[in-house]
Amino acid sequence: MPTTTAVDLTDPDLWARPDTPALVAELRRESAVHLTDTVDDGPVWSVLSYRHSAEVLRNAAVYSSEQGSLLGAGEGNVPVGSGRMMALTDPPRHRELRAPANPFFSPGAVRGASRGIAELAASIVEQAVEQGEVDLVDAVSALPLSVMCDLLDVPEADRDMVVRVCDVAFLGRTPEERRAGHQQLIPYLLHQVMLRRSDPRDDLISMMATYRVGGKLLPIEDVVLNLDNIVVGGVQTVRHTAAMGLHTLVQHPDLWRRLQRGEVGMDSALDELLRWTSVGLHTLRTASRDTELDGRTIRRGDRVAVWVWSANRDPEAFERPEEILLDRAPNKHLALGLGAHYCVGAPLAKAELGGLFTAMLERVATIEPTGPVTHNRSIINFGLDRFPVRLTPR
Ligand code: HEM
Repeated sequence: MPTTTAVDLTDPDLWARPDTPALVAELRRESAVHLTDTVDDGPVWSVLSYRHSAEVLRNAAVYSSEQGSLLGAGEGNVPVGSGRMMALTDPPRHRELRAPANPFFSPGAVRGASRGIAELAASIVEQAVEQGEVDLVDAVSALPLSVMCDLLDVPEADRDMVVRVCDVAFLGRTPEERRAGHQQLIPYLLHQVMLRRSDPRDDLISMMATYRVGGKLLPIEDVVLNLDNIVVGGVQTVRHTAAMGLHTLVQHPDLWRRLQRGEVGMDSALDELLRWTSVGLHTLRTASRDTELDGRTIRRGDRVAVWVWSANRDPEAFERPEEILLDRAPNKHLALGLGAHYCVGAPLAKAELGGLFTAMLERVATIEPTGPVTHNRSIINFGLDRFPVRLTPR
């Protein structure tokens, strides 16, 4: 008989509790794979170990993304982008949808843009330092929003509007606010795709708008869905990793000092903060045929949630997983995914986070909390709602 988790791992309040790491470790010790009875999504297999998480993520032929890659849509609901949006499409079609985006996120392309990203990050930090007292969650959000406008080559005249709309669509405080923002973003993207299909430029929208598979253009709705996928993927994740990463450094001033003294490199520090924060708590798959995982029989149609946060703290994969070792090597965390759907924006995310943390370390002597830090209620992008601080310049 499969073990059923005594707690509903999809309960967003669980993840902000101080006893959660011990609770998850206990569940993982009991069994790598459990059956969880969730409130909104019905029965779901919960994968807690690193090894079995990797097994699921690497095997898109058995563990499909087409029925949804995130919990929360409700049992049996297939998302609109199924088979059309890269995150919700299995290989081989997945490769065709991802191909036009790849060149814009290659390490080379991102290296070319990283000076601009670093300058942008420095100016955002400078502004926050000048203000003195800020909400760090709001302050850091300006970076992914701006980078996204650059990536989409949003015309200068539309920039403020697009930032405002994205801000509400992805960072709005209520689902209604976010829905309203989204309803404005989609027609905007659609309009841009149509413009660039007839008059292409050298940018991501034009590339996707004019991309041909087997001689045929991608349907215009699919282009919009995939652009939306990129914008969705690139704003909240960076915002929450940045805020959670800074919160971690505030809680561990010794780490902040080590970074400031240059005793550890930024690249390894970023990977460790990605592992530690694991803001994308889970990733969902659906079995496309009967299979076995850790001795459990998984039936065709069963949903399987990979708990990335738990895999990233598995002692079988990480030495001293409950410690933050900024120079940890190797560090094969799953915070950016694994296999076919490995985050397409990973180099960009690292350039943004690296630029931001570097600017903070160079410009800020201390970050002092001035009020309560509140967590959001999300198992998709687990992060902070508020992080009010006083910044003392260096
Ligand atoms: C710290 C920041 C980020 C984190 C933690 C993160 C995390 C992830 C993870 C875990 C996946 C795999 C999902 C799955 O297996 O179903 C993923 C995929 C994806 N990410 Fe990111 N991401 C980040 C930044 C970005 C950025 C900056 C962009 C784009 C601008 C982006 C765009 C995407 C897209 C489009 C996918 C789907 C890829 C595919 O299905 O082939 N992400 N991300």
